[in-house]
Amino acid sequence: MFKAPRGLNDILPKDQPAWSYIETQSSATFESFGYRRIDTPVFEESGLYDRSVGQATDIVEKETYRFEDRSGDSMTLRPEGTAGVCRAYLEHGMRVLPQPVRLYSVRMPMFRYDRPQAGRQRQHHQIWAEAIGDAHASVDGEVVEMAWRLLERLGLRDLTLALNSIGDPVCRPDYVAALRGYYQPLLPKLCADCQRRFETNALRLLDCKKASCAPYAEQAPHSIDSLCGECGEHWRQLTQHLKAMGIEYTVKHRLVRGLDYYTRTVFEIVPPEEGAQSTLGGGGRYDGLIEQLGGRPTPGVGFAAGVERILLNLRRQGVAIPDGPSIDAVIVHLGADALTPALSLASDLRRKGLAVVVAPVGKSLKAQMRYAGSRSPSYTLILGEDEVREGAVAVNRMDTGDQQKVPFAQVAEVIST
Ligand code: HAM
Repeated sequence: MFKAPRGLNDILPKDQPAWSYIETQSSATFESFGYRRIDTPVFEESGLYDRSVGQATDIVEKETYRFEDRSGDSMTLRPEGTAGVCRAYLEHGMRVLPQPVRLYSVRMPMFRYDRPQAGRQRQHHQIWAEAIGDAHASVDGEVVEMAWRLLERLGLRDLTLALNSIGDPVCRPDYVAALRGYYQPLLPKLCADCQRRFETNALRLLDCKKASCAPYAEQAPHSIDSLCGECGEHWRQLTQHLKAMGIEYTVKHRLVRGLDYYTRTVFEIVPPEEGAQSTLGGGGRYDGLIEQLGGRPTPGVGFAAGVERILLNLRRQGVAIPDGPSIDAVIVHLGADALTPALSLASDLRRKGLAVVVAPVGKSLKAQMRYAGSRSPSYTLILGEDEVREGAVAVNRMDTGDQQKVPFAQVAEVIST
């Protein structure tokens, strides 16, 4: 028997209402901020991720699903959404549109080869939003606020917003130099990954989850103390904006995020039960990314949240999720002569906008009634020999037990009310 590949999950019918709930709430929130939906392909040329996410990141180094297509080109299954959106922004000349261009999507599958565990899959899904083309801190504020309001609107409670600024190409080199200066004498005490990060990507030293490295990261110099004038002003405006919007944040000096494209603002939203795989969503500014992809310098800021992690936390917090779509009627039919009228009635009711299922053919009344019960319809419609002859159907209202005989032509009206 085949099984789904490790770390990839089916989204079963019973789970769909919760997924739809997250999607509709997300779309409504994003649209209320003026964002418009875009969907990009599920794989892209590998070079796109090497240049954006960064070759020295865990994602590109260890987690991408890379393959050669039949023409020998290297392709990568999308590990995240921002690179593809920036590629699309450039490819479709969105620079000529009023800026910033506000884009979002929901339930976008992402692929990262990692050790699966609760909250970590090899295929996960994101909801995300990006605002491209405006460098002002108010747009960072808008994105942070939107992420926060969305998680709040979904019903999640006791979340924490962690915020930091990691500067730009003007001030970051000085900060990285200070960081390396601080870590140099500590090198022999660091884990092997950190010793490597010291050479390849020193900022990521702050992000090490190992208990042996964490105390050093805690004592490390803070990036917000090294910001240049412009980055400092941007940070001041962002924090002012968040205060004005009543959004509480915690400055987390160790927050650098796992992708290379960030400049200035970085943020993450975490639930109360914190753990390595708990971050619900995160994002930040990426003012150098579009230029790195071959475009003119164009600022951008955005965020993404994992749908599976949102679901996990909705369940943990006992948030009530609205039920999925229900069936209006199940049609039970008795005898060979009742089948065609039953199918025609179903067809007619569906064209009138109702959800209708015909009970399995060739089963007893009892078995068909049992089936009807299992679908929890609002009505069960019973077609026996008498009814067929009379061109009518016995309409049973399931919540009250009321029963009445109704001519075919009036069934839709009766069960719609
Ligand atoms: P990210 O932090 O890599 O950011 O992923 C965003 C969210 O996706 C995470 O906070 C988490 O909820 C979820 N996630 C990531 N990996 C997994 C996994 N293996 N299993 C389950 N959930 C996962 C980005 O992807 C950036 N593109 C965000 C962004 C948008 N920055 C600017 N614009």
